[in-house]
Amino acid sequence: MAAPVALIQGASRGLGLAFCKHILKNKSPAVVIATCRNPDGASELKALSAVHAGRVTLLGLDVDQEQDIRSVSEVVSQRFGRLDLLVNSSALLHPSGKGETSLRDVSAQGVISTLTTNTVGPLVMAKYFAPLLQKGGGGFGQQPEDKSKHHSGIIVNITAKVGSIGDNGLGGWYSYRMSKAALNMATRNLSIELGRGKSKVLCVSLHPGTVNTDLSRPYHKNVPKDKLFSTEHSVNCLMSIIDTLNISRTGKAYSWDGAELPW
Ligand SMILES: NC(=O)c1ccc[n+]([C@@H]2O[C@H](COP(=O)([O-])OP(=O)(O)OC[C@H]3O[C@@H](n4cnc5c(N)ncnc54)[C@H](OP(=O)(O)O)[C@@H]3O)[C@@H](O)[C@H]2O)c1
Repeated sequence: MAAPVALIQGASRGLGLAFCKHILKNKSPAVVIATCRNPDGASELKALSAVHAGRVTLLGLDVDQEQDIRSVSEVVSQRFGRLDLLVNSSALLHPSGKGETSLRDVSAQGVISTLTTNTVGPLVMAKYFAPLLQKGGGGFGQQPEDKSKHHSGIIVNITAKVGSIGDNGLGGWYSYRMSKAALNMATRNLSIELGRGKSKVLCVSLHPGTVNTDLSRPYHKNVPKDKLFSTEHSVNCLMSIIDTLNISRTGKAYSWDGAELPW
């Protein structure tokens, strides 16, 4: 069987980088396509590529730019002809680096920029990569005995618990919460459209917990030490979920511990 192919979008740092490291370390012979805005400056990805010779393809992709997404999909199509796993990891909290605490902080441009990267980007990624995922070999997740229920590929949209409408008791963070709630709707819609055909693509939203990265840095002092995960720990948990996914679990959001999140 050909080596599984995973594409990690938003791989320069944080959780995206940890996904690349995890797959290269634990999922041999799987290969990783790592995309980021500035491959020349992505020193950790370049180092990974040197250590795992032949298993890393590093490509430039700004998820706000549909042309970048189209171009990368064409390169992946030519080089690999298929995809088994797509992880959309890139996101921003807000262009200012801090979530809005009240309506006073809301600006139209702030909301639009956040939704463009966090919601529109992953959806457009799905548009261009779904045909390749439909040609995948189902190299990630689990296949049930019934072959008619096999999946060919998996889309993972990294969401956040604060995007859950049902769980929102605190308010604030308008742009980020709205972007992740809408991303969850995209996941659900995708799971329906891409779950219909003969080649099924499984689609889930996954919440990584509160993780020690640049995105959450302004809030670390409010998080108890044992609740602030390392990227390695969070990705271990998320990959354990991915490893046990099958088509019956498509179209849902799961937290790092495997619990289903309310919409
Ligand atoms: N950290 C947490 O506590 C936490 C909690 C819940 C959910 N999440 C989610 O986890 C995911 C990963 O976040 P993180 O914590 O790893 O954040 P991070 O360390 O700040 O990394 C963000 C990543 O997104 C990339 N990115 C931003 N805008 C982009 C664009 N237009 N095109 C391509 N890449 C872009 C960044 O690339 P550059 O290097 O080019 O800037 C960087 O690689 C996000 O979806 C986030 O919402 C995180």
